[in-house]
Amino acid sequence: MNTHPDFPNLTIVEHPLVQHKLSIMRQKDTPDHVFRQLLDEIAQLMAFVVTQNLPMTTRKTLTPIEEMDAPVLQEPYPVIVPILRAGLGMSAGLHKMIPEASVGHIGVYRDETTYKPVEYLVRLPDPKGRDFILVDPMLATGGSATFALDAITKKGVPVEKIRFMTLLAAPEGVKAVRDAYPDVPVFTASLDNYLNENAFIVPGLGDAGDRIFGTHE
Ligand code: PRP
Repeated sequence: MNTHPDFPNLTIVEHPLVQHKLSIMRQKDTPDHVFRQLLDEIAQLMAFVVTQNLPMTTRKTLTPIEEMDAPVLQEPYPVIVPILRAGLGMSAGLHKMIPEASVGHIGVYRDETTYKPVEYLVRLPDPKGRDFILVDPMLATGGSATFALDAITKKGVPVEKIRFMTLLAAPEGVKAVRDAYPDVPVFTASLDNYLNENAFIVPGLGDAGDRIFGTHE
């Protein structure tokens, strides 16, 4: 794990397995089904870091030998919120690791000329003191992430209950999230170099949504 001096909100998950899988994902000729599988596996590995501070309690548990106070996740269980579409490819792996979690959905796409987020769906469960894990593999301009964070906080979720998991981050997006939500921790597998003129992450991996769902033009 690593932090960046300019971005105290950012944790880079540098685990060898995460980095190896990400490098295969970046490769242009990696088939979509392999891309999807690797994203799912990376999400499961990153879950270990992203969920590190979830609140715990103990539950009276009868083992075959005796009763003990066994550590368990505190209820109410967290809410996983993928930003559609690409977030779905990453939230599935996280959900496997926290099967008790609820799932909210935020549907937003980037307008192809303005790069501004356009909303088409916001469905969030009652927050009830729950932790929220926002998920989107790509943090480019940060427009989609800040839109989603606005939607979650509008629902009454305090910022200290929110964290954001992404696969690739551009400095521009990390900065946008840091400026709008300095107290929301961002976890990524890589801080890439910059955004190109089409607001694509460089070197990046192309369009994550298209590679997950096989919707190439
Ligand atoms: C892409 C990506 C992120 C968003 C990141 O989604 O999956 O959600 O852009 O860009 P931003 O940080 O500049 O907002 P896209 O609009 O392509 O929609 P999709 O996930 O449905 O493919």
